[in-house]
Amino acid sequence: MVQKAYRAQIFHLLGDPYLAGDAFEYFKDGLLVVEDGHVKAVGPYRKLVKTLRTKTKIKHYKNHLIMPGFIDTHIHFPQVDIIGSYGRQLMDWLQDYTFPAEAAFIEPKICKETARFFIQELLRNGTTSALVFGTVHEGSADAVFMEAKRKSMRLIAGKVLMDRGAPKNLLDGKDMGRAATTRLIKKWHGKDRLGYAITPRFAPTSTPQQLAMAGMLKAQNPTVHVHTHMCENKDEIKTVSKLFPEASDYLDVYEKHGLVGNKTVLAHGVHLSTSMCKRISASGAGLALCPTSNMFIGSGLFNLAQIRRHKVFHALGTDIGGGTSFSLLTTMSAAYSVCQLRDLSLSSMDAFYMATLGGAKLLGMDGYVGNLEPGKEADFVALDLKATPLIARRLKGIKRIKALMFAIMILGDEHMISETFVMGKSVYKQ
Ligand code: GUN
Ligand code: ZN
Repeated sequence: MVQKAYRAQIFHLLGDPYLAGDAFEYFKDGLLVVEDGHVKAVGPYRKLVKTLRTKTKIKHYKNHLIMPGFIDTHIHFPQVDIIGSYGRQLMDWLQDYTFPAEAAFIEPKICKETARFFIQELLRNGTTSALVFGTVHEGSADAVFMEAKRKSMRLIAGKVLMDRGAPKNLLDGKDMGRAATTRLIKKWHGKDRLGYAITPRFAPTSTPQQLAMAGMLKAQNPTVHVHTHMCENKDEIKTVSKLFPEASDYLDVYEKHGLVGNKTVLAHGVHLSTSMCKRISASGAGLALCPTSNMFIGSGLFNLAQIRRHKVFHALGTDIGGGTSFSLLTTMSAAYSVCQLRDLSLSSMDAFYMATLGGAKLLGMDGYVGNLEPGKEADFVALDLKATPLIARRLKGIKRIKALMFAIMILGDEHMISETFVMGKSVYKQ
């Protein structure tokens, strides 16, 4: 049994701080003990050092903070090459940039090269798990699973389902994507640390027949996730009410087709009614909130007070390439700004929860990852508290952990990630 130990400041969440108060642990001089890829112990250095095996090496991260790897609950891997594309709002952005970029993924070589870059970029940003959109092409999902497997990551992905509302070369054929999705589930779901998500892009790009087929696949494969977009942008919502005149609202379209349950992740939910919040909450589904994307695409400000009031599960997503940064630190900072504009101050503990344990909970992974409790898989990052002269200067005088974590989330980005570990193995080093 290989034992390794890491000495640093250590921080992680133990529960939802909004519901459970100060549900975090912080060790100013901490030790993380890892055995066979899992957390063996976490606590004060002085106490734990005595419990180590005689041959165990201790790696000392001076001026660093170790915390769980970040979890990105909504991201598109084929959109890395269109981040920061100037334009109008969602529906035009999709036509002008997204669909042309996604068409290139018919080429296995593009799938492989982009997936490799994408996985490396996640790790460079300290993100160790994610829920990922592919394109309509089966090979896109294969490629991202393959790369995640190479790094032993816990990751969920899916091939997009589309059979209308996009260029013809991006639409599923006669069987509406059933055969490819079935093959991918068989090949990847539950293999190593991987999981499958049935991924209808959003209501405007699927016929009712395709949504019904997706719902049937979900019924036949109850342990897979469902991943889609909902209520992101006002024009999108108008389009849905025109395309589905019989539906009572946007959520009803997905509900009617058996797509809303406790393994459903709805990206965005910027514009929700009380009724939708109540129904999402009762179903156990959750929202991936994507603030950098919502501001960049001009979709609006999500309403965290409303989401909390109705106890809707929620966490953070970058939504690359509508989103503008892979960094969950940057995403937390954007979430804080969005909340400020809605008269709510998002605490550092709430934000770090959404980016770690809350994300794990939304993706059904909290039994495995999300914090550093003994027994969990050892996915963690070391943040450099002196990453830039400004960060070093600003953090130096801070005495209280909540203030420290707040300054990190506002000033930090991928430059703070000095090393990323997956299953106890170093997979990225600055
Ligand atoms: N809605 C449907 N497709 C997309 C997409 O690719 N990005 C975003 N942000 N919203 C979407
Ligand atoms: Zn998206």
